Amino acid sequence: MSSLADKRILLGVSGGIAAYKSADLVRRLQDRGASVRVVMTAGAQEFVRPLTFQALSGNPVHTDLLDPAAEAAMGHIELAKWADLILIAPASASVMARLAAGMADDLLSTLCLASEAPLILAPAMNQAMWRHPATQANAQTLNARGVSLLGPGAGSQACGDIGPGRMLEPLDIVARLIDTIAPEQVLKGKRVAITAGPTREALDPVRYLSNHSSGKMGFAIAEAATRAGAEVTLIAGPVRLATPAGVTRVDVVSTDDMHRAANEAADHCDIFIAAAAVVDFRPARVAAQKIKKEDGNDTDVLQLTKNPDIVADIAGRSALRPFVVGFAAETEKVLEHARGKLQRKHLDMIIANDVSNPEGGFNSDRNQVIVIDGSSEQTLPAALKTELAKQLVGIIAERAFGGH
Ligand code: PMT
Repeated sequence: MSSLADKRILLGVSGGIAAYKSADLVRRLQDRGASVRVVMTAGAQEFVRPLTFQALSGNPVHTDLLDPAAEAAMGHIELAKWADLILIAPASASVMARLAAGMADDLLSTLCLASEAPLILAPAMNQAMWRHPATQANAQTLNARGVSLLGPGAGSQACGDIGPGRMLEPLDIVARLIDTIAPEQVLKGKRVAITAGPTREALDPVRYLSNHSSGKMGFAIAEAATRAGAEVTLIAGPVRLATPAGVTRVDVVSTDDMHRAANEAADHCDIFIAAAAVVDFRPARVAAQKIKKEDGNDTDVLQLTKNPDIVADIAGRSALRPFVVGFAAETEKVLEHARGKLQRKHLDMIIANDVSNPEGGFNSDRNQVIVIDGSSEQTLPAALKTELAKQLVGIIAERAFGGH
């Protein structure tokens, strides 16, 4: 793990029982070489006294926006400029809502608005509050603006509930923070090709067969692989997502298009990851004109023919064969079906997705998967696809190259 040497971290502490863990977090950040200044909201001060953070950080704690004495010592704009990054832990539902709305009604929210430093949150709240559509929408808004969310974890909560919403442990926050700002270059010098999104098969000039894949999972992996040092080609079906920085994108529509582009990319890559939801069957004939129901087309209008299996073709190569990772989208007997696909398609690894699980699957921002290879199975807890992608890249690099 690399360090936080010389990083100036502004630690925002908001109201919540997890605030007591942030005292330990100050120490853990300093152990990694960071200078830490602490900003507390009024709510946080109900749980822990500023003196605790002052003693641990070795710096005065900032609490007020309009305190003349504090402004004279280090004004809020100066503080916003001082920070190399802002970490808010715990980040309460209220702080997330105020940040998403762009409010500047206390010192912490004002600093976040006034600073150009990366903003990273470790959310902590009751599980129902975390699951609430308002909080999820705020998380999505912040995410889309480039704010990173570390966690939350799941488990038993101080209020007696069980579920997602626990702040991650300080050591985990530090590890993920380092990974977010300077990911280990586990794929440095490697080339990775990834398929993402759906394919689309025309039926006539106005209709097509497809599925609900949004491309989010594949795009998140492309971004994580690039940040881990890989040269990435992303073969994208028709989706409305921005291309991650540094990624070479090849847009395709039909399965045949994706098949061609994937084979071309696989000739020059070390790892091939098939996250796309490929349409298995296409219409045997594409009608030149819109099919009319008046033309006696009552039943059996559609005749289908099988599409090529892209990932199986690449895994079945005898030469120029990369390390091949597939996904398995299943609605029942998830492990059994995924293991079957791993074997039948001769893959090196398969990532099993229970797409009936409300915690993930098609078009969700979150996912929960089981990574299966010949010798092991590893369940990754439900998380944002962006977070999961980082873990998957680490696991794939480890299996493909033993971490080198
Ligand atoms: O795109 P999102 O909205 O983020 O959703 C993510 C996801 C659910 C689409 C993704 O995580 C996922 O599970 N992708 C695989 C979906 C799928 O089609 O699974 P499958 O079990 O039908 O196919 C197994 C594997 O074979 C997959 O790697 C698939 O890309 C590949 N395949 C399938 C058929 C085909 N003709 N060619 C293929 O390459």
